[in-house]
Amino acid sequence: MTIMPHNHLMWAVIDIYTGREDNIFWRRLPGDAGGKIEAAGAKSLGPRDAEPLGRDIIHTVTNPPPRLTGAIHVYGGDFFAAARSEWDPETLLERPFDLTKNIKLFEAANRAFVRFWSRDKPSDYHFVSGLFSRSPETEFNVRLTRN
Ligand SMILES: [Fe+2]
Repeated sequence: MTIMPHNHLMWAVIDIYTGREDNIFWRRLPGDAGGKIEAAGAKSLGPRDAEPLGRDIIHTVTNPPPRLTGAIHVYGGDFFAAARSEWDPETLLERPFDLTKNIKLFEAANRAFVRFWSRDKPSDYHFVSGLFSRSPETEFNVRLTRN
């Protein structure tokens, strides 16, 4: 699963408890009218890694292992209410963050995980994701519980 470049507009701490999360960090090109970005760094996070992210961070997240990556995300604000941005992965131009599209991306990744790793039916599992919790302080990125 890869989440296109996006910002949070609030501080965050990401803690990985299983799997891996590769981050590309971006910076805005000064003076670009379209809000274009360029790559500025990268960091791979694994179990027991906790990464503080500043208010203005822009990052892309990829989970390379073909299995569940689990993380606890703590945000310093209302993650769902903020008028955030994402960047087109081809043009790297800024546009409004599409929450509905990103929720569907998580749902598709969760379904693919169950299909790939389980002989059980997806309906045997209950997914809990902070993307749906709407907690203003804490997001649990992905949690899978067997019914
Ligand atoms: Fe993020």
